[in-house]
Amino acid sequence: MNFDVSSDRRNTNSIKWNRDAIENISANPVAEPFWVADMDFYPEQHIQEAGKTLAGQGIYGYPSFPKDTAHVAAWMRIKHGWILPKEKIVFAQGLLHALALSVNLFTEKGAKLLVCSPMYRPFRIIPERNERELIEHNLGYEDGVFYLDRERFEKDAENADMIIFCSPQNPSGIVFKEDELVFVLETAKKHGIPVISDEIHSDLAHPNVKHIPMGLANERVGAKCITLFAPSKTFNIAGEHCAFATFSDSEMEEAFRKAESALWLDEPALTAGELSYAAYTKGAEYNKALCRYLGETAAAMRKYLEENCPGLKMVNGDASFVTFIDCRDYYQKIEAEVLGHPERYKGGEGGGILSRFFGVSAGVAMNDGTWFGSAWYTFVRFNYGTSRIRVMKALERMVRAVKSL
Ligand SMILES: Cc1ncc(COP(=O)(O)O)c(C=O)c1O
Repeated sequence: MNFDVSSDRRNTNSIKWNRDAIENISANPVAEPFWVADMDFYPEQHIQEAGKTLAGQGIYGYPSFPKDTAHVAAWMRIKHGWILPKEKIVFAQGLLHALALSVNLFTEKGAKLLVCSPMYRPFRIIPERNERELIEHNLGYEDGVFYLDRERFEKDAENADMIIFCSPQNPSGIVFKEDELVFVLETAKKHGIPVISDEIHSDLAHPNVKHIPMGLANERVGAKCITLFAPSKTFNIAGEHCAFATFSDSEMEEAFRKAESALWLDEPALTAGELSYAAYTKGAEYNKALCRYLGETAAAMRKYLEENCPGLKMVNGDASFVTFIDCRDYYQKIEAEVLGHPERYKGGEGGGILSRFFGVSAGVAMNDGTWFGSAWYTFVRFNYGTSRIRVMKALERMVRAVKSL
């Protein structure tokens, strides 16, 4: 559990470390990756051993691991204080699968889906691919703090057929308070629409910050609520696509189970099942240490930027390992630099002004804010799920780059 030693993933099949993919967003194939939301830490030892055992056996036939979800229910009880019967937990082949299937099952074509922005890009793609419309609800933002603007949220919800919520929020790192969750649920209930809560980052709330599952908050409200969660970000096993769903409404649960079984998508693959079982049964200590490490890294980043470059502002960042950095004080200069020197910043068509600038001038590859919505062009998303020394060196290079303009 020494998170100061992170892995070198250059010669693996990691998309985060892939040179072409890095060049595509940052205009620099050798920029260090601080983008795609997975971490450079090795998973907990038992998870690694489960993987090694499988590889040692060398045969990847049909599995017989426990098919029930008692281990998932135990994790939810211990980690989040939510007593959830194991029979109410439904397996899904990844969180986005569960989300897309729910959109298909519980809304009609042309339906309007409300999503808070800045938003994780697949929340924009899922409505598009499934012929639904997006209501992009911009979160409130002031001086480095994103927040839920209740008045505007309520207004946007008037026209919505479903709310897709992300809690904790990617990319801002907001951990919503219970009264905010209750407000969202009551708004949904008032309009008779379901809420889906994507809680893939929920096990990584930093110490002294409490994540409350939407489904738990809903026990007081009684809206139609689907809570989605997964071991993938928590334990850095995201390539294995394994997630879980729980429904407040038994008819919705039945429809979801029926659709998954009809599509033959209701069981995890061998490796996903083995790794997530090891994670949920053996990963508690690791998880505690990781939350501490990430919280300390976030605090160190904030302190460094405040002391050395207040013009680069780290936003909320209370959970997980991704955060937005607001670069608006430097944006005009950066834009002039990038547009004024097209030869220096060529390539990087998949990125934006800021991601190309920091890719070339600081050797730091990040998602441009525009990836999360066009309004967010003065932001970059920084992934700090790697050793603190690497993070701090990257920040130093970014500060040097903006100061040299
Ligand atoms: C908010 C959010 N939801 C879903 C996913 C992806 O989930 P999965 O790989 O299980 O489909 C991510 C990955 O970055 C994410 O940040």
